[in-house]
Formats: sequence, structure tokens, C-alpha cells
Amino acid sequence: MKARPITTVKTVVTGIEAAGTGIKLLTLADPDRWELPPFKPGAHIDLHLPNGLVRTYSLCNEPADNTRYVIAVKREAEGRGGSRALHDEVGIGDVIGVSLPRGGLEPDARIGRYVFVAGGIGVTPFLSMARHLERAEQAEFTLHLIVREEVPLAAHLGALIERGRVVVHRTSRTGRPDLATLVGEGGSETLVGCCGPEGMTDDFERVTAAWPAANVHIERFVAPPPVIDPDAKPFTLSLARSGTEIQVRAGQTMLAALQEGGIDIATSCCGGICGACKVGWLEGQPVHRDRILSPYERERYLMVCVAGSDTERLVLDL
Ligand code: FES
Repeated sequence: MKARPITTVKTVVTGIEAAGTGIKLLTLADPDRWELPPFKPGAHIDLHLPNGLVRTYSLCNEPADNTRYVIAVKREAEGRGGSRALHDEVGIGDVIGVSLPRGGLEPDARIGRYVFVAGGIGVTPFLSMARHLERAEQAEFTLHLIVREEVPLAAHLGALIERGRVVVHRTSRTGRPDLATLVGEGGSETLVGCCGPEGMTDDFERVTAAWPAANVHIERFVAPPPVIDPDAKPFTLSLARSGTEIQVRAGQTMLAALQEGGIDIATSCCGGICGACKVGWLEGQPVHRDRILSPYERERYLMVCVAGSDTERLVLDL
């Protein structure tokens, strides 16, 4: 059996703080208080929970402060169990393995204006971006936070709200704001981002459909239902580093075939939205079905949990 090395970092829970109704902020640190692997503003980490679940969260703290990882967890009673475990079972001193941070805001000197739109707890990836951009003073930015009434992470957003960098829209008082008005004119010098419930991210996608793809960043909470391709054909995965060949049956996911073949792949959402299962591809023609890779990234990477193949043979960088 050949295994792909999975890199996790051992952390301990050093802080738990209430941050709004049903929301906890967890602070994770190296057991010996060494610096943790660096990250970009708004990057994500996968938490490998003691009960075996793997869940992805945005880092809320600033990259300048990499002695800790701070995440906000909203308890979803009807969710898949990760947030319940973090709320109900995890305490100070518990050990949690985390992945290396991935994603986040790439520095780009061409961008002069950032507009972020967040729904409720969807504010988390933008919190560290907002703090970072405010500190960097290189570009204009506004974070529009759309909530029914209560502002999540209020203690951490208060100063940004006072300075007008975060604008709160309470739908209980003013109804839903018009997303097109919030983002304004598109252009290569403007980067817009959205994270929130499905209806909001779908609307945002429609509003920015004509924008350059590289200037639109959308994060989803929930993976869309899996795509069933009735015309799917079997294909062969060729693993370039090991020389192994793995058959993918018609309708089977690459992830399932790789796992059957004894290849360990990090996963979290299993629906193409979190980025955990990203693998490089070298030859062939993948069918991308994820909602996270940019067009540029798709030329080199695919997400094995949802991608298919248009060719009989696909060579992966594994
Ligand atoms: S496991 Fe989340 S994108 Fe594949």
C-alpha cells in the first residue's frame, strides 16, 4: 500500500471565548508555543478532530500573529457534527491536529479596491483580511456584513465598525441590501469576495458573472449536491511519482478510487468547496466540478472529490 504523506501540525487549545449566540472563538497554539506555519489573510485550516472528523475553518487572526490560529465556530445543531464536537466535546488543553494553512488573500499591487460581502458567521475569512488591509494601508476596502439582527464576533469587529471599514446591514430593520449596489463597478483593479449562506453566494455569483474570474472570490458553507453524470465512462488514473495505475469505475469519484487503491488523500467537505483534496494533474483532460479553484489553478490542479476525466487516462502528480 502506498500512502501520500499528510502533513498535520499538532496544536493545543489554549483559549475558548464566547463570541455571539452559538459562536465560540477557539485559539490553537503549538504545545511548546513555537510559531505555527505562516498563513495569508483569510487562509483556511482543516481541523482533525479527536472523533475522527475533519472540518475546515477560516483563520480569523492576522498573519503577523502566527503564534496562534484563531477560528470561529458556530454550533450547527443540524450540521454534520464537526461544530457540535468543537462546542460540546473540546476543551482547553485538548490536542488537535491541523493541516497546513491554505488559500487566503494573495498580495496584488494592481488591486486598489476591495469589497467584501459577508452573511453572518461568513464574516470570518474577511476579518483577518480587513485587519491586514487596514494595517497595510495599500488599498481601499469595505466589508459589508449582512445580519438579521445580531452582529457575530461583535467584540472583534467593533473598532472596524466604528472606523467605517465594516458596514453592518440588519435585514430585520432595512431588508436585504442590493448586492450589485454594494459591489459597484467591476474592473481589474477591484477584487470582491463573498462568504455566506447559499442564497447569498448564488446571488453574488449572478451579480459578478461578467467580472474577470480572478477578481471574484466566493466561499461557500455547504457543498452543492454531487453531480451525477449519466454519461460518465471509466478511466485510468496514472500516478506519476509512484507509477501506480488505478481504475476509476463509471460514476465513481476519483477520491473513492484512490482510497480503494490505498492512497491517503486529505478531505474535509467532499463536495469541491474546501480545497483540502487538491492534487496536481500532468496529462489528460480533467472535468472540473469544484467551486474553489480559479481558472489559472485548474490548469494545474483538480479536486479529486468531485473532478472527472474527459480522457481515458489522467496523470496525477502523486
Ligand atoms: S474535500 Fe473539500 S474540495 Fe475536496
